This record gives sequence, structure tokens and C-alpha cells, in this order.
Amino acid sequence: MHRNPEKNKTRGQLVYIRTFGCQMNEYDSERMEGLLSRDGYDPVERPEEAAILIINTCSIREKPEEKTYSEIGRYRDLKKECPDMILIVSGCVAQQRAEEIIERFPAVDAVIGTHQVGEISNIVSKIRKGRGPIVAVDFSDDCRIDSYPRRHGSISAFVTITQGCDNFCSYCIVPYVRGRESSRTSGEIIRDIEELVAGGTAEITLLGQNVNSYRDPERGLEFPELLECVSGIPGVRRLRFTTSHPKDLSDRLVSAFERIDTLCSHIHLPLQSGSSRVLAEMNRKYTKEEYLEKIDALRSARSDLAVTTDIIVGFPGETIDDFGQTLQVMEQVRFDGAYSFKFSSRPHTKAARLTDTVDENEKSRRLTILQELQKEHTLLANRLHVDTIKEVLATGTSVRDPEVITGRSVHNKVVNFNGRYEDIGTLIPVKIIEARNNSLLGEAIHNHSIRSM
Ligand code: 5AD
Ligand code: SF4
Repeated sequence: MHRNPEKNKTRGQLVYIRTFGCQMNEYDSERMEGLLSRDGYDPVERPEEAAILIINTCSIREKPEEKTYSEIGRYRDLKKECPDMILIVSGCVAQQRAEEIIERFPAVDAVIGTHQVGEISNIVSKIRKGRGPIVAVDFSDDCRIDSYPRRHGSISAFVTITQGCDNFCSYCIVPYVRGRESSRTSGEIIRDIEELVAGGTAEITLLGQNVNSYRDPERGLEFPELLECVSGIPGVRRLRFTTSHPKDLSDRLVSAFERIDTLCSHIHLPLQSGSSRVLAEMNRKYTKEEYLEKIDALRSARSDLAVTTDIIVGFPGETIDDFGQTLQVMEQVRFDGAYSFKFSSRPHTKAARLTDTVDENEKSRRLTILQELQKEHTLLANRLHVDTIKEVLATGTSVRDPEVITGRSVHNKVVNFNGRYEDIGTLIPVKIIEARNNSLLGEAIHNHSIRSM
């Protein structure tokens, strides 16, 4: 499984990509890696060995944006030792701050915005011909995401179905750095998936900022219908999607959890706040009650559904009472996991014009309380799996212990288990014996049929 292509390659043919942020960025990094592979470049795991260094950046909050600058500084120092190295900054910070990056860091050869990722080969070839620095940040209303050469044999893969976002949640920079929402045609999506499956992929995750608002530009197909089409492709053994916006979660999508067996028992449904007043200020277009109704409907459709979420604390004007309501919703839903963040003011957004009323200490205090509560809930949710047998998609060995195999259950829980190296890249029944805070521990049962689970 483990690739080590750099062994036979010289520096001139190696690329290192450092990725920050969301799955969309991971997808873009994979896309750049795939496109460059056509030109003979292989990925390398150590930046000092590479001929091309790409920093794929995230601007969702202030912290990851700051990281961009420290990373550029680090790679600029590497480039001093090896002046032929090509240094590229791509992604959301690149989109937003291209001129500033070029001015501040003369070592940067190109800045590539979110709609220009597909141009990576052309840009590298221009730099090789001595042109630069290149600024490629043009934005189009209908950004195409073409298929690209994929790494073969990856057991699990992302397939982008929509790009951009039209929701304009008042705190969020995404619509400004990724542009208007556009959907790929179902034909292209299905072709991508058929190719992946033929190459050995068993699990497909459909990806978009808001997958529920998918609409096939040619056939008008909507998201639940797309899910059905994809589930019908022979060889797709597991199907996932992310991210869903609660306001667009239709009854038809809810009932997909009843109808489609291969749809995994997990949904990521960002709550953001448990106070309807704050939700309105956030421009989320649902109330706390509506969110809770959706959760009930989902759990009626699939009783064991794992639910994870995103929550922001300290949004401008969030009172102690608002925060208390968020904790209350958490008690009611009992999320399997939550990504939680302190509000971070972002340029261009509506919330940036509001007074940041919650000071930094108070934001930290609220975040700690929320995270402690979530830790309890996650452990309780994980314990429900002990003494059951779960199908695990084994993806590799544990970082902590290379003797231990690791993978994910249908509930999207990390499962570390005693198994064989041959299990990697397969779906395998695992008896769960212990629940930890962030994972489950188990033992592979090699003679157990997955069908009986
Ligand atoms: N401040 C804090 N968190 C944010 N998120 C998005 N924008 C901000 C912001 N300005 C969070 C939301 C979103 C997740 C990807 O990041 O919770 O769902
Ligand atoms: Fe940002 Fe809201 Fe779009 Fe999600 S739905 S990307 S939070 S604007």
C-alpha cells in the first residue's frame, strides 16, 4: 500500500504539497498532484527533497491564515539553499491576498487562486521557462472541475459534486474565496466514480460546501436522486457525503437513509449555535427547533445514525443565555463529535461589521466548557459500540503503533484493531472491545461474514 516513488526519482521530478483546511482543499491538493503526475512529477514526503513546493492554504479563521505566512517563511529558507526550487502558494489565502503575498515574499514563484487549480501544469511550465512571479486568481461564475488522473488503488476517495457556496452565513469567508456555487454534471460524477471503483475504490464521499443544494446543470437531477444513482454503481460498497446544510435537508434526503443500504450511518450537520436568535444573526435560515426536528427525522429513518457537528462560540452578541442554549441542544442531540471554534472575524463578511462583544478570555472559557461536555458525549456514544461487531474499512497502520491496523466504521469512528497487514485496503469485521475518547479498539474476526452484521 505504502508508496515510495521518490526512491527512483531525482529532485527535478518531485513535488511536495502542504495542505491546510477542509476536505475541499485536500481534494484540490490531490487534483494538483494528479495533474502534475501527468508531467512526470511524483509526490514526496519531505519538502527538502522536492523540486516544487506547494502550500495549499485556508482562510476560514485567522489562525490558519497566519500559518500560511509562517509556512512561506519556512520554505523560503529552504529555497535559499536550493534556488531552483519552485515555490507556489495556492488556495483560499492565495485567492484573497495574492498581491500581498507576492510583495512580501519575493521567493514565491506563483500564487494560484481556488478557480485556477486546474492550471497547475501550465503555470509550472511557465515558471520553468523563466516567467514569474505568476498571479493566477481569476474567478469565473461557473468554475469547472474536470476529472484528473487519480492515484489508483485508494480504498476510499472524495468526489467533488459542487463547488463554491451561495449561502453567505454572516461569519463565513467561503463565498468570497471560493465563489458562486456550481454543480458538476451527474454524467461526469458517475464516470469519475466508475473509474475509481474499477481501480479498487470501495468507499466514495461526495463532496461540496453544501451538497444538499446540488442540481445537475444538464438533467436537473437533485441530490437525493444523485445519491440513488451513485448507490446503483456496482462496486460502490460505502457511500458518504459532506457537508449538509440543515436548511436544505429535504425529506427525500432523510428517507435516503431508509432506502439506501450502502449509505453510511453518519451525517455531519453543522449546528453553529443552539440559540435561534444567534442563528438568525448568522443568516443560517433555521431555528433551533427546526434543527432538532431534522435530527429526530434522521434518527427515525436510521436509528443508529452517528451525528457530528460544527459549533461556533462567541459570535458577536452571544450572551450567556445564548451559549447555555447551545449546551442544551448538545444535551438533547448527544452528538458523536463536534468541531468547535471561537468566532474569528473575517474580511468581507457581514459579521466583521458587528462589534465583537465577547472578549477573548470569555470565548476561551465557553470553548473549554463546550469541549468538556462534548468529550463526555463522545465517550458515551463510543461506548454504545463496545461488544458489537462492526464493518471497518482498513486504511493503514496506526501512527502510534505500526503493529496495529486502523480504519473507519460505518459510523465514521476511528477503529484501531489487531489484524493482519493484508486487511489493509479491505472491509473487515471487527469485534469492538473498548471505547476511547477519540477511537474504538477491537479485534478483526477473519472468518465472520460482513453480510451478517
Ligand atoms: N469563525 C469561527 N468559525 C468559523 N467557521 C467558519 N467561519 C468561521 C469564523 N469566521 C466554522 C464553522 C464552519 C466550519 C467549517 O468552520 O463552524 O462550519
Ligand atoms: Fe460558509 Fe455557510 Fe457556505 Fe458553509 S454554508 S461554506 S458556513 S457560507
